[in-house]
Amino acid sequence: MVAVTDSEALRRSSLKYLWMHNRDWTQMAEDGEPRIMVGGDGVRVTDSDGKTWIDVNGGYNSVNVGYGRTEIADAAYEQMVKLPYFPQGTTTAPTVMFAEKLAQITPGSLERTWPVSGGSEANETALKIARSYHKRRGETGRYKVISRRGSYHGMTGGVLWLGGAGRAVREDFEPAYPGMVYAPQPLPYRCELGGASASECAIRCAQAIEDLILFHGPKTVAAVVAEPVSAASAAAVPGDEYWPMLRDICDRYGVLLIADEVICGFGRTGKMFAVEHWDVTPDIMTVAKGVISSYLPLAATVVSREVADAFAGEDNIFRQALTFGGHPVSAAAALKNIEIIENEGLVQNSEDVGAYFLDQLTELKEDHAMIGDVCGIGLLLGMELVSDRATKSYFPDEMKLGDRLTEKFHQEGLILRCAGQTISIGPPLGITRDDVDQIVAGLDKAIGEVESEIGV
Ligand SMILES: Cc1ncc(COP(=O)(O)O)c(C=O)c1O
Repeated sequence: MVAVTDSEALRRSSLKYLWMHNRDWTQMAEDGEPRIMVGGDGVRVTDSDGKTWIDVNGGYNSVNVGYGRTEIADAAYEQMVKLPYFPQGTTTAPTVMFAEKLAQITPGSLERTWPVSGGSEANETALKIARSYHKRRGETGRYKVISRRGSYHGMTGGVLWLGGAGRAVREDFEPAYPGMVYAPQPLPYRCELGGASASECAIRCAQAIEDLILFHGPKTVAAVVAEPVSAASAAAVPGDEYWPMLRDICDRYGVLLIADEVICGFGRTGKMFAVEHWDVTPDIMTVAKGVISSYLPLAATVVSREVADAFAGEDNIFRQALTFGGHPVSAAAALKNIEIIENEGLVQNSEDVGAYFLDQLTELKEDHAMIGDVCGIGLLLGMELVSDRATKSYFPDEMKLGDRLTEKFHQEGLILRCAGQTISIGPPLGITRDDVDQIVAGLDKAIGEVESEIGV
C-alpha cells in the first residue's frame, strides 16, 4: 500500500488505480497530475507538495462553510461512536432533527424530507415522486418533465436527460429517458427567444414553458424542473418575472414545480434558498452540496405537505429505499453545518461579499476585451468569454481557451476552472474582501497573459 506521505507514489498509484471524474489519466500523466490535496482552512487548501491555493470553486460550489471546520468533524465523530447506523425500519435522532430543521428553514409548506446521498439522487427522487404523485391522484398520463437547455441536474440514469449542456455528455448513453421535454434557458446575455432585457427574456422563456405544456397537453406533463440560478449557464440570473410566472403556469395546469437548489441552497446566492429572491415556493425542492458543505455525502428531496400527503396510507407508500438515505452521521454533520451557516451570518456575507466580488469582476471587464459578460448573485458568479463583444461569438475550440486559462489560474495559486468559455465562481461563503482582491488580481494577470498570447 502506498504511503500517504509520498506524493509522487500517490500520484503514480492514482494514475493506475483511480478512475477520476471528468479526467483522463493519460493526459494527467503527461501533465504531472493529479494534484493530491492534504489540508484546508477556510477558502484555502494545501497540496502534498506544500503549496497553498485559493479554492475559488469551493469544491464543486459546495464547501459553503469552508475547509477545516472541526465542529462538523466532532459532530460526525460523536454520532459515529454513539450509533453509526440503524436497524431496518427504525430511524435516529439526528435524522429526525435534520428533517425537522429543513422543514423550518425551507419556504412555505415544504415540510417532508426524503434523505438521500447526493444531488443526482435527490433529483431522481423528485422525478419519481412527481410521477407517482399524479398517478396516486388518478392522473396516470402525466409523465413528461420539462427542463431547460443548458441546465444541469446530475449524471445518473434518469436525471442525465434533464437540461443538458450538449450531446457529448449524453450520446454514449442513449436512448433517452422517456418524456423529456426541453425549454429555453432565460439567459439575459444571449436570450434564445430574442428578449432584449432580462425581463423580456424571462417573460418569453416562461411563456415558452406554458406553450410547451399546451403543445404536449397539460394532462401529460408531470413537472417542470429548474435551478433558480443555473451555475451550468454561467450563473445567469433570470429576470424577476421568471420564477413567479413559472409558479403561476404550473398551478394553472396542475404541473409540479421542482426547484433544484443543489448549488443555490444554503446561502450560495445571498439567501438561504434562491427561490426566496422571488418569494416562490416550489412543490419539491432538492438540496445537496451546501446542506453539509460536502463534509460527507448527504442530500435531500424536500416535499410540500400537499404532495407528500398523497403518499399517506399503508398501501400507498412511495416505493423507494436507499441504504444510505438518512444516514445518522451525515445528518449530525449537516445539523452542525447549518448551525454554522446561521450563527456566523454566512448568508449575509454571501450577499455582501458577493456584491463586492461582482463589482470587482465588472471592473475587470473594462480592462479585458475577452470578457463578454459578468453575472451572478451572492457568491454564485460567472463570466462568459467572447472573441468579439459586438457579435458575442466564441473563440474557436482549437484555441483551447479553457485549458489555457485554467493553467494560468493555477500559476496564480487559484483553483478555478474555465470550462468551455465560461468561468464559474463559487467559493466558500466566509470569503473576505481581501481574498476577493487576491483572486481578482490573479484573474487580471491570467486573463491579460492569455489575451497577449492569442492577440486579443
Ligand atoms: C444544480 C445541480 N443539480 C444536481 C447536481 C448533481 O449533484 P451530485 O453531483 O451531488 O449528484 C449538481 C451537481 O453539480 C448541480 O449543480
